[in-house]
Amino acid sequence: SVDSTVSITVVGASGDLARKKIFPALFALFYDNFLPEHFTVFGYARRKLTDEELREMISKTLTCRIDESENCGDKMEQFLQRCFYQSGQYNSEEDFSELDRKLKEKEAGKLPNRLFYLSIPPNIFVDVVRSASRSASSPTGWTRFIVEKPFGRDSESSAELTRCLKKYLSEDQIFRIDHYLGKELVENLSVLRFSNLVFEPLWSRNYIRNVQLIFSEDFGTEGRGGYFDNYGIIRDIMQNHLLQILALFAMETPVSLDAEDIRNEKVKVLRSMRALQLDDVVVGQYKGHTKGGKSYPAYIDDPTVPKGSLTPTFAAAALFIDNARWDGVPFLMKAGKALHTRRAEIRVQFRHVPGNLYKRTFGTDLDKATNELVIHVQPNEAIYLKINNKVPGLSMRLDRSNLNLLYSERYPREIPDAYERLLLDAIEGEHRLFIRSDELDAAWALFTPLLKELENRKVAPELYPYGSRGPVGAHYLAAKYNVRWGDLSSDGT
Ligand code: BG6
Repeated sequence: SVDSTVSITVVGASGDLARKKIFPALFALFYDNFLPEHFTVFGYARRKLTDEELREMISKTLTCRIDESENCGDKMEQFLQRCFYQSGQYNSEEDFSELDRKLKEKEAGKLPNRLFYLSIPPNIFVDVVRSASRSASSPTGWTRFIVEKPFGRDSESSAELTRCLKKYLSEDQIFRIDHYLGKELVENLSVLRFSNLVFEPLWSRNYIRNVQLIFSEDFGTEGRGGYFDNYGIIRDIMQNHLLQILALFAMETPVSLDAEDIRNEKVKVLRSMRALQLDDVVVGQYKGHTKGGKSYPAYIDDPTVPKGSLTPTFAAAALFIDNARWDGVPFLMKAGKALHTRRAEIRVQFRHVPGNLYKRTFGTDLDKATNELVIHVQPNEAIYLKINNKVPGLSMRLDRSNLNLLYSERYPREIPDAYERLLLDAIEGEHRLFIRSDELDAAWALFTPLLKELENRKVAPELYPYGSRGPVGAHYLAAKYNVRWGDLSSDGT
């Protein structure tokens, strides 16, 4: 049999994402011997660069996983020697033919497989797919395209994008990235649910009172205001990252671990959800703030953001799944920039113990006695379960303690970046962690009416100070469903 080779072309090679995430992830895979024996990496962009200049640019962002082990420098050099550059226009079939010619040279008679990573703005997605697929598809091996969000900004524009992509590609050639699916604890959700007897039987409205999906960043849109203003936090985080987590959390047991079986279940649960209602949503935007002599800018101070912008940088929402398992259980999402911490987590609050014998010990606040499972996606990956426990001693006092799985203690080896997992899967043709087009449609169907209503009614976001906990409206929204947002400060970790 003929040896095969993989050529990975990063289109938009000089952009931020490429430099910060994609090249370092490729190097990490190479470093850990996960890349196929024969591979080359190409950078493609409009700028004129030599191979050496590309290597120089990439080398600045590569790091060694296992501290400064002796051969790391050698490995870097070997990796860089396999990186090449081709400059060209994004809509030019001739320029991509030139790339094709160079790819062929490197492929040198081996079975050629080609992966294109589109790390480019959405307005040129289709141009690149058209030119690259026509001029630089592999003649005999596979050709795959990884695309990054935004996939449109509502149901219609997303459907139009899908229609255009499918003129040139089949669904199995398209790998739509949601990098949250590549995060270790998100991937672990299915393991936790389906391979432990103790969780799955409780995983329903019978025992779960509410589920919270929380994303918070302690910095603003600094420098990305231009992109962000056209999307806002609901499209940037909720419609994709948080909704994907929700789907994995709430789906029924798939028939198998095959990509299509998993994605079928995700689509089913998304299609069982109610579209978001305006009165179940709170939007906010950060304002300038001075603290300890330091001043923090407002969102609208960003020169790339139009004056008077109403784009939300914070949102909280209550979502519902109208199926037998989840009927009536609020799934609360909260996402915001310029808040007081950086974290992403899933919180599962269980029901009260019926007829709790120890009720008196907790006074009237039974909420304090409910079990809570926290899956801490980042930073400081952890899973903990809050339980009630007797404080040792002769008196009967209870407290809440954590059964705690802290990744840094249990698994000291550094956790791979989400992009490593996803790139490796794309190379191996594994679609499990990528978004299928019907899944994307279902996700947009939930959010599009709300997004239009927010825009048509020009709903003004509630202002919150940079670095705060966000608008109080989020608190009232939760209270409407008898929920209190969980908080790290009450976790006792
Ligand atoms: C991206 C959003 O998808 O995710 C950014 O566009 C956000 O606004 C980022 O900052 C967060 O990713 P991570 O992996 O740093 O949590």
